[in-house]
Amino acid sequence: MTPLLLTPGPLTTRVETRAAMQRDWGSRDQAFIALTAELRDRLLAIANGKAGHVAVPLQGSGTFIVEATIATLLRPEDKLLVLINGAYGERIASMARRLRLPVETLIFEEWEPVDPAAVERFLGENPAVTHVAIVHCETTTGLLNPLAEVAAIVAKAGRNLLVDAMSSFGALPIDLTQTPATTIMASSNKCLEGTPGLGFALIEREALIAARGNSPSLSFDLHDQWRGFESNGQWRFTPPVQVVAALVEALRLLEAEGGPAARLARYGRNLDILVDGMAQLGFELFLDRALQAPIIATFQSPPGFAFEDFYQSLAARGFVIYPGKLSRAETFRIGCIGAVGPADFQRLLAVIGETSKENGRAA
Ligand SMILES: Cc1ncc(COP(=O)(O)O)c(C=O)c1O
Repeated sequence: MTPLLLTPGPLTTRVETRAAMQRDWGSRDQAFIALTAELRDRLLAIANGKAGHVAVPLQGSGTFIVEATIATLLRPEDKLLVLINGAYGERIASMARRLRLPVETLIFEEWEPVDPAAVERFLGENPAVTHVAIVHCETTTGLLNPLAEVAAIVAKAGRNLLVDAMSSFGALPIDLTQTPATTIMASSNKCLEGTPGLGFALIEREALIAARGNSPSLSFDLHDQWRGFESNGQWRFTPPVQVVAALVEALRLLEAEGGPAARLARYGRNLDILVDGMAQLGFELFLDRALQAPIIATFQSPPGFAFEDFYQSLAARGFVIYPGKLSRAETFRIGCIGAVGPADFQRLLAVIGETSKENGRAA
């Protein structure tokens, strides 16, 4: 039995998406060039970015695209402010330090959103900061950060905004005509419901042109990667052809579903059923309900809770969930994203109810 993946990704995909991986593609062939063009076009359209941005896909996982984008856009004389309220914000700061770039951090608790007023103050006091990085949905908890407010402040201060939208892109609204950002970064295998192996950045064309020669890395240079696409429509280096084909199919399915708004509505229904049902079974959300994005829900582990046993008993019944990732609190996570719907969550809750009874927990 193939389990349902209730995780932050890789996650459950539709059969049509997996079927798109059933053929071979010549990477220099016209058919694959057309597929790559469709991919780049559809990615830009999702964020309404066609006016000023370009889409640059890159082989690898989400971390790769974030690191490549930072390496490409920042020069040694620039300074990055990273807004941190979880592990993925921390990771951006680590990457920038590895790249030997000057870094500042503004750190918030894992259960509190980034405070736009604090960002405004910090930028006012630190004129040397040229770029600000924010994680849209901090997947550590599933907390939604106030992207629009922070973007407006960063733009007003004349700085560049880098958005890690890994776990939000394709579901939560991002409109580049309303929300100014130098770059939006995401990957194939989260809300787009593709298979893993590809990241991409939507980058302001002018910023990318100006970034020529910045990257200390050859394979991670997104300026050169982009020039490759623009010159002959091809990837510079071997593309993950099946992953591209699956992602294009997944993007067509996203459009057929009604676009990101319809997908968000489905994920929202998943979350509501999950959170209400879990509360009835005695499991409380870690975050305030209002801060919890319908991406992945974090639950507090009750006293005496053995995650490994819980995980195994759900896995044996066809549901793969996720451990917690918090630095202090004991938690576990259940994803709401992927090709899953309300009926799947009803079944999950029934199984959790049975498991809890077997383990002697009050259900
Ligand atoms: C917000 C965010 N950023 C970055 C990443 C890293 O992506 P990957 O694990 O594909 O490298 C993830 C993965 O879950 C994420 O949720």
